[in-house]
Amino acid sequence: MLEVAALEAGYDDALILRGVDLVAQAEQIVAIVGPNGAGKSTLLKAVYGLVRPRAGTVRLDGDDVTGERADRLTRRGMNLVPQVDNVFPTLTIAENLHVSALVVARARRQDAIDRVLELFPLLADRRRQQAGSLSGGQRKLVALARALVSQPRLLLLDEPSAGLSPMAIDLVFEKLAEIRALGIGIVMVEQNARRALGLADTGLVLDMGRNAYSGTGRALLGDPRVAELYLGGSGRTASSSTSTSTPSGMNPAT
Ligand SMILES: Nc1ncnc2c1ncn2[C@@H]1O[C@H](COP(=O)(O)OP(=O)(O)OP(=O)(O)O)[C@@H](O)[C@H]1O
Ligand SMILES: [Mg+2]
Repeated sequence: MLEVAALEAGYDDALILRGVDLVAQAEQIVAIVGPNGAGKSTLLKAVYGLVRPRAGTVRLDGDDVTGERADRLTRRGMNLVPQVDNVFPTLTIAENLHVSALVVARARRQDAIDRVLELFPLLADRRRQQAGSLSGGQRKLVALARALVSQPRLLLLDEPSAGLSPMAIDLVFEKLAEIRALGIGIVMVEQNARRALGLADTGLVLDMGRNAYSGTGRALLGDPRVAELYLGGSGRTASSSTSTSTPSGMNPAT
């Protein structure tokens, strides 16, 4: 569905992405992990038309959409949830969803909102509440719900679990699995790397603006070099499957 090839992008004089490749499929989760400053957020922004690519291509369903404007990409079925500033705090939950539904044909708007609220009963119960008065975890759910109202086929998520309590993180990861089961593709950047790779179908370790490692989430979790360099050690406690997974699905980039 999404195919990013040899993407280069940056800010002013600074080249941040130095040739990144990424593939995302429907009904799959791709986890992008890597150190601070690696260019993870820049990658999402360059894919979503918020940072202008200098080289390389972004294809959505085979169409070249490199550098296309974000609002156009939203209408094509791709949406981004940025890490911060992703809800209107002075609006209620219902109003937040209505704003997002403006890209949907008028006759289908209410249906789009109702369907999303079914997925988030917690928000449905609080729909008249101001988004700014919600907890961090609830606000994250509003941001996810807002993105879903535009009926995307592909969601780009920047740090969906950042700053949340363990319980709220559980809830967000649960919702991500449900969203995938609806057939929607997800590309997520996460600091919570082990957890993200554990949920993801495929993963990408980004380092200094380049693909350092890519492969199935499981293969990356099981790769001792990835664990050592990017996951803070062997992490045998993180997953019982670590010892049995093989690195065969993994492609170290040079
Ligand atoms: N608007 C900007 N203008 C100039 N430089 C920027 C801008 N945004 C990010 N950078 C720089 O680009 C580099 C990559 O930043 P980016 O935010 O993409 O990294 P990241 O992998 O998302 O990091 P983190 O894990 O901290 O979120 C960093 O050196 C950062 O300082
Ligand atoms: Mg970032």
